[in-house]
Order: sequence, then structure tokens, then C-alpha cells
Amino acid sequence: MNSHSASSQAILITGATSGIGLACANYYTSQGFHVIACGRNESILNGLNTKHFLTFDITSAEQVTAASIALKQHLSQHDLQLTQVILNAGTCEYIENVFEFDAALFSRVITTNLIAIGYCIEAFLPLMAKGGQLGLMSSSATYLPFPRAEAYGASKAAISYLGRSLRMDLAAKPNQAIGVSVICPGFVKTPLTDKNDFAMPMRVSSEQAAQRIFAGMEKRHFEIHFPKRFTFILKCLSWLPEKLLINMLAEKSTK
Ligand SMILES: NC(=O)c1ccc[n+]([C@@H]2O[C@H](COP(=O)([O-])OP(=O)(O)OC[C@H]3O[C@@H](n4cnc5c(N)ncnc54)[C@H](OP(=O)(O)O)[C@@H]3O)[C@@H](O)[C@H]2O)c1
Repeated sequence: MNSHSASSQAILITGATSGIGLACANYYTSQGFHVIACGRNESILNGLNTKHFLTFDITSAEQVTAASIALKQHLSQHDLQLTQVILNAGTCEYIENVFEFDAALFSRVITTNLIAIGYCIEAFLPLMAKGGQLGLMSSSATYLPFPRAEAYGASKAAISYLGRSLRMDLAAKPNQAIGVSVICPGFVKTPLTDKNDFAMPMRVSSEQAAQRIFAGMEKRHFEIHFPKRFTFILKCLSWLPEKLLINMLAEKSTK
């Protein structure tokens, strides 16, 4: 994707202390990239074999700004091009009872999965090299309405829209040539999904997810979705009348 050698290409990954982000940090490192791993847990970040790490909470605008200042210095000191940014950090909590709609939970999920992405885009997009690729972590959950996913699904649907809109505005700036990828995984085995109490068909490992993300980002695909068989089924189901979907999905999840 880029004329620079992998070792001069820096990639910033948020949520690199666990799950998909951790697997991406390991995979990009194995491919020779200069990985800048980001997270809240400094002792985990310190133990990674990535080239550099930045410790910050993505929901703190001040911490994100401070991280971008440190990042700028690091890039210039090491003569690096920031060619990829993957805004992967996120959370998942479910609304267990709609009649006791938990607005605080809703706010937490939207803040981490959406508002914080705004802080990260503000801080990191201006540092990206010409021809770079920005990855936004959405979810295949956005293809269909799922029970209990009012907060999580809404946050990820917003990310998918954000990606489409960003892509349009960036395309209008051909001198920078920065591309956008919206990443829509199916189920991936991570600490986040280990908490789920429902069946997770076709779940893949975080290492498989990292390879799919790497390949999609390198090819500058707009939508990176996997496993393909699973996302194909969801996409087909999304064409069904909403009433039928409610019968299929709501009944099965009713406790
Ligand atoms: N696993 C799946 O099946 C799946 C499917 C579709 C989409 N996704 C998305 O993929 C992303 C990664 O999920 P995962 O499954 O790998 O989950 P995970 O293992 O729980 O990892 C989440 C990562 O995000 C970080 N994070 C959360 N809140 C943060 C904050 N306020 N500031 C900084 N870092 C924060 C976590 O750091 P801490 O360790 O400090 O909490 C952790 O490193 C999420 O956006 C998720 O929605 C996952």
C-alpha cells in the first residue's frame, strides 16, 4: 500500500492490551511494522514486544491530546511515517430489561465506542502520512437489529456511518489520499465475547481476526468483514421484512 519499508511505517492500535487489538499488535509486529500499542494498562503494554506504547484512556479528551503530542515527537525522532491507525478499543454491555432501560449504561457504551473515537480522530488523523489508512472498529452486529444491543449496536452503527462520511470527505482531499476502513467482525473469541451467555456461531480466533484486518487494511478495503460465510448470512437476513426478523431473533433471545 505504501512505498516506505515496513520498518519505517508506524501503525497505531488502540485497545492493544487485549483481544483483537492485542492480536493485531502482535501480527503487525511479526510483519516488521513499527507498532505503537495503546491502552490503559501500562504493565500489559510494557510487556508487549511492540516498538512503542502510549498509555491513555480514549474517553479522556485531555489524555488523547497528550498522547498525540507524544506520538508526534516519537514519529519525528524515529523518522517514521504514520501509515495506519486502527481505532479498535471498545466495550460491550447489554440492556438486560428494556423496561428498566439503563441510561447510564447506554451513555458508557456510546461514550467509549463513539464519542472517544471522535477524540482519537481529532488527535491522530492530522498526524497520518499521505496514502495512510484509518481503520474504525465497527461490528457485523450493525447488519441486523439484535436483542439487548440497543447501546452496543447503536454505537457501532454510528461508527459505520462515521466511516462512510469520513471516507467521502477524505476522498475530496486527494493530496492526502487517506483511506478509511470500517471493520465489521463476526464473533471473535476474546475476553469481551467470553462474557456472552448466548451461542456465537462461526466464532474465529483473535489471531484469525488480526490476519483478516491486516489483509483488508493493506488492500485498503472500505469494508473489512469476516468470517465471510457468517457476514453473508447476516447480510441476506437484513433483506427480510423487519416483522420476520423480530419473530426469528426476538423469540429466541427471550429469557
Ligand atoms: N470480539 C468480538 O466478537 C467483536 C466483534 C465485533 C466487534 N468487536 C469490537 O472489537 C473491539 C475489540 O474488542 P475485543 O473483543 O478485542 O475486546 P477486549 O478483549 O475486551 O478488548 C477491548 C480493548 O479496548 C480497550 N478499552 C476499552 N475501553 C477503553 C478506554 N476507555 N480507553 C482505552 N482503551 C479501552 C481495553 O482496554 P482495557 O483492558 O484497559 O479495558 C482492551 O484493550 C471492540 O471495539 C469491539 O466492540 C469485537
